[in-house]
Order: sequence, then structure tokens, then C-alpha cells
Amino acid sequence: MSEEDVRGDGGLEARLEEEATFEPPESFVEQANVTDESIYEEFEENWPECWERAADFLEWDRAYDEVLVEDDAPTYQWFTGGKLNASYNCLDRHVEDGRGDAVAIEWEGELGETRTYTYGDLLEEVEAFAAALRDLGVEEDDIVTMYMPMVPELPIAMLACARIGAPHSVVFAGFSAEALATRMNAADSEHLVTCDGYYRRGDALDHLSKTNEGLADVEQDATTVVVDRLGDDLEHSLTEGQHDYDGLVAAHEGASVEPVSRDAEDMLFMMYTSGTTGQPKGVKHTTGGYLAYAAWTGHAVLDIKPEDTYWCSADIGWITGHSYIVYGPLALGTTTLMYEGTPDYPEKDRFWELVEEYEVDIFYTAPTAIRAFMKWGTEYPEAHDLSSLRLLGTVGEPINPRAWKWYYEHIGGEACPIVDTWWQTETGGHIITTLPGICEMKPGAAGPGLPGLDVRVVDTAGEEVEPGNAGYLTIDKPWPAMLRTLYRNDERFVSEYWQEYSDPDADEWVYFPEDGAKIDEDGYITVLGRVDDVINVSGHRLGTMELESAIVATAGVAEAAVVGGDHEIKGEAVYAYVIPEDGYEGGEELEDKIVDNVVEGIGPIAKPEDVIFTPELPKTRSGKIMRRLLEDIASGNELGNTSTLRNPEVVEEIAAQVQEE
Ligand code: WT7
Repeated sequence: MSEEDVRGDGGLEARLEEEATFEPPESFVEQANVTDESIYEEFEENWPECWERAADFLEWDRAYDEVLVEDDAPTYQWFTGGKLNASYNCLDRHVEDGRGDAVAIEWEGELGETRTYTYGDLLEEVEAFAAALRDLGVEEDDIVTMYMPMVPELPIAMLACARIGAPHSVVFAGFSAEALATRMNAADSEHLVTCDGYYRRGDALDHLSKTNEGLADVEQDATTVVVDRLGDDLEHSLTEGQHDYDGLVAAHEGASVEPVSRDAEDMLFMMYTSGTTGQPKGVKHTTGGYLAYAAWTGHAVLDIKPEDTYWCSADIGWITGHSYIVYGPLALGTTTLMYEGTPDYPEKDRFWELVEEYEVDIFYTAPTAIRAFMKWGTEYPEAHDLSSLRLLGTVGEPINPRAWKWYYEHIGGEACPIVDTWWQTETGGHIITTLPGICEMKPGAAGPGLPGLDVRVVDTAGEEVEPGNAGYLTIDKPWPAMLRTLYRNDERFVSEYWQEYSDPDADEWVYFPEDGAKIDEDGYITVLGRVDDVINVSGHRLGTMELESAIVATAGVAEAAVVGGDHEIKGEAVYAYVIPEDGYEGGEELEDKIVDNVVEGIGPIAKPEDVIFTPELPKTRSGKIMRRLLEDIASGNELGNTSTLRNPEVVEEIAAQVQEE
């Protein structure tokens, strides 16, 4: 397939021009969890009590007094007075319901080894590890960091923490040592769970050395638990304060640990994400509202049923994995599949082999993966029986209509609805998407806001735009899984998300997700992308400031500007424009150093696609870098107006240089 056919730029033009619509297949509707379209009206009329419906998915130790308390808006409180435990809700209650032998987690390693955990098994290991964590000194409200790849011990550690009321902070294993240290320091976290390594495309990767490098920069002492994933494939030794996971679990085998009853508003976990400034934001999620919403959306949007095998191919190191590999699916008592490796190892049909082998009912992935599948060709899915699939989902970035239709036809066999789910780390769960048993689908548009959510597209003054016009996305009513604050930074919480469109004097609070969007006559929203300095690479959020500070830390770099440019597979890729320091040459040697620094400072996902050396950056008369122009150059777009620049000639120069390359 040609590059144009694959379309890696989110296919904006194609998305806006697309006219085809698809009705949900009859066979799906017949069995869907939610099929009555009056739910939209019902939630609107009965707001906020409608959210009791989400809370009803959970078992509460103490019933909540109020659904919503708005006194401290924009720090809303949900299900106040209620008490519950997340691990109890994901494990014990299913075992008590006689489903102890039902499979909770199917895990497959990259080399093909498998592990099956029933709800009974999972509960047993979670209790043993919870007892071990307590023994190591973890107390209620202590923040436990996890820096692990896709191994079952990661959800086990998360649930063990939830059981004893210790919030977790999972750092994506692909992030650098430096990123780990920054996050542990910011949270004052004194406990870490990690592993010796993992497999990537058949190679055993050393993860513990990277962990230790990070720990060297952690200001506080940290007790560390190390999972032995690689056995003989990688020898490792533990230093003082480091404990072997298996040894700890064996020593606490059979332990029984009462789930700690937590307030609905107590923190379940935090998760760091990137924003406009260099300092990552610690998004705080709660026990009651978050878990209720993850379960409700898992039921209503992903149509999860206990007897399903459900597969979300994300990494648990991101919010998608938290909400829709671990908490949502397990709260609903289904079988959640975890796969350690990449889609093209050992062959490009790895995912379809798994769908066939496990008879996966629901498959949830990212557009970047779909674009890669599309490029590889239909022979890979065609070689497998995918008829077990009932529903498909996508998340993380816009999906262009071609990729959407390819997914619909070649993976779903035209018998599965697709949910294109727009949401964020901060929203905790889905916000904009079709309900698969009710709504017509429009490829390229995510859909309307979910029932109970007041999603709008507004102009700079906050007025709703006419259908067809571009504007900014806002959410005008709170929802149970919304972030409560940024950890230890209430001020930034307000300034980042609430300042733009709220009217504090009138006590009117409007959430601003920092995305641009268009809305059509039917209320379907086409998401245009971030409007802040965030680049979305393969559905992962990277802050330009973080990237730029990693680049200017390189000897020989005077100034740098980083932008996102279109990329066939990744959607957006990182392009770095760099001014070398006097006495330094912009060339391969400096480029390599820059790339190394970015990988070391952030991680391989942030690797620049291209480094472009330039004597100057295009700036406005007031000295602001014109990022839009740099983006256009990177994407090969026609260049817009340069007359407001102080140095218009530099644009031509850079553009010519990029074309030469
Ligand atoms: C940003 C959030 C939600 C979990 C994964 C990413 C973009 C997300 C879509 C979608 C268009 C999307 C937005 C959003 N985004 N889903 N279906 N269509 N854009 O979480 O790292 O917090 O990033 O991802 O720009 O703001 P995240």
C-alpha cells in the first residue's frame, strides 16, 4: 500500500470529507449490554443521580451519602461517605460469587510461554504480595512506584497496593532511568516494584540496570522488589534493600489480608503525564468514582460480559491499561488477556494468532497499530479465524477513515461495530464515543459525548460554534472518573484545566482538555488534535518542553524547537530544529548525540524522526518561535503566511534543506 493510502496524519481532510455511515450490525445489537437509546435523555434528566448506575457496578462496604458534592469545585467529590476496596471489587466478590475458577488473566509472553490466573489464583497471590508489602513497611497512603513491562506481576502489584490502601504510580517501562527518578522524587515514593528485564523481539532486555541507574538519582531511600522475569537468560544480583518477588510471595503464601475499606474519594493511584511545561503532571484518581466509571464504560462502551475473553493491546504503563486492562475488566469479572510483546514478532500475524487461539471476543487497540497492520497487508489476518470477534475499539489518536474501514472489513469481517473512544489520562475513562449497540458509526468522527457528559465545541469566547466549524473541546459537567487534582499542585490543576473557560465568580466550571474539534449536525465530534505543546506519537503524549530540554542539554546545542510532523504509522513524529553553538557543526555526530540524549532523558518512544540544523529559528517580531511553520515544514505542507516574521528568509532556507534530505 502506498503512503498516501495508509495516511498517518490522522487523515484530517479525509475525516472531514467522509460521508459514509455504518449501522451497528444486527447480530451485535441483539446481545449488546446497552441498547435503549433513551439512555441519553434519561441521564440528562436525571443528572447527577444517573451516575448511581455506575456506582451500582461496585460493592460498597458502606453506602455513599451523596452522588456528587460540588462545594470545592472544580475539585468535585463523588459518592461521598461511601467506603469500598478496589481489590475486593476486582477479586474477592467474584470468588464469593462462586466464580473463583473463572479465568481472570490470560498472559502470553513474547516467546510463547503462557500463564493462566483464575480469580482464585489472582486473589491468593495478591494477598501474599500485599502481606509482603506490609512487611516491607508499606503503609496506607504510601505511594508505591511500579516500573514494569507487561508481566502479570504488574496488575498483581497494583491490586496488592489497592488492597492495603497504598496508591500506586506506574511508570511506563519504556521510559528512561531519568524519567523514573523524576517521578519517584516528585511523589516522594519510598517503594518500588520492578523486574530484571523482559523480552523484546526475541532479545532479553536488561531492565534492572536502568532501574538502578534511576534509583541512584532518587533522593529518598527506596525499598525495591524485583520480579525475576528472565531467569537464566539474564543473570542479575540484588543489592541491599532489594528483594526478590518470588521469595517474598513464597514466604507469605496463604496469607490472608483484609481489604482496607477506603473512602470513595481516597486516592487509588496517580499517573504522570506530559503537559506544556517540562515538569510531568501527577494526575490523581480516586477509589470510588474512577472504579465505578471504569466498570460502567467497560460495560456500556466495550460491551464486556463476564464470559468474554477481552483483549486490550495497550501497555499497563499508560492510562488505557489501567482502566481497560486491569480495573474495568476485572471489576466486571471478565477474562482479560495480557500480551508481553510486539505485534510483529516472531511474525506479523502475532495478534491474529492470539485472537484465534484465545477466541477473543473484544479487541481494543490504537490507530498506529491498525495503520501498521494495513501496511503489512491482509494476508496476515486472513491466515487466521477471527470469527470470535464481536466488537472492536480504538484509542489514543484520531483514526483516518481508510484505516477505520480496513479494520472494519479485514479484522471485524463487517460484523463488529467499532468504538473510536476519545479520552485522556485525566478523564480516567471514555468521554466521546458511540455506544456500540445504539449509535450509527461515522468513520473518522469519534461520536457524541457519552450519556451524562456535556461535551461541547466552543470558540475562544466559550460560545458554542456552528456545526462544521472548528473550535475547542470542553466538558461542561463533571463526571465520576475525572482527575481530582494534580498531585501536590492544586494551583496547576486549576490553571491547566479550568482557567480557560470557567467563570469562578458565577461558580461555573468548564473543563478544558486542550484538544481542538469540530462537531456536526448530529452532535458527532471529529477531534482535530492537541492545541497545547504536546505531540501525540503513536498515541503517546510527549511534551515539547521535555524534549527540548533533553536536546539543549547536549553539548554543542544553542537552541532547539521541537514540533510534531505527520508520520505514516506513528500519526505524529518528533522533528527537532536545532541551532548549533558557535564552534560546533551540525552534522551526523551532533545528531547522534542529540538522539542519545533524548532516548536517555525520556525513552526510545521520544526518538526524533529527524534533526534539522539551522542557523536560526523562525520567530515573530516579539520573539516567539513560529511552531506552526515548523510543523508545516516537517509535514511537507504548503507554507502559510510568513510576513509577520522577523526573519522570513529563514523559513525558505529550512524548507529547502528538509527537501534536500
Ligand atoms: C490525548 C490524551 C486515552 C488514553 C490514551 C491517550 C488524544 C485520545 C483519541 C481519539 C482522537 C484522541 C487526544 C487526547 N486522543 N483518544 N479517539 N481520537 N484523539 O491518553 O496520553 O492522556 O492522551 O490523546 O489528543 O487529549 P493521553
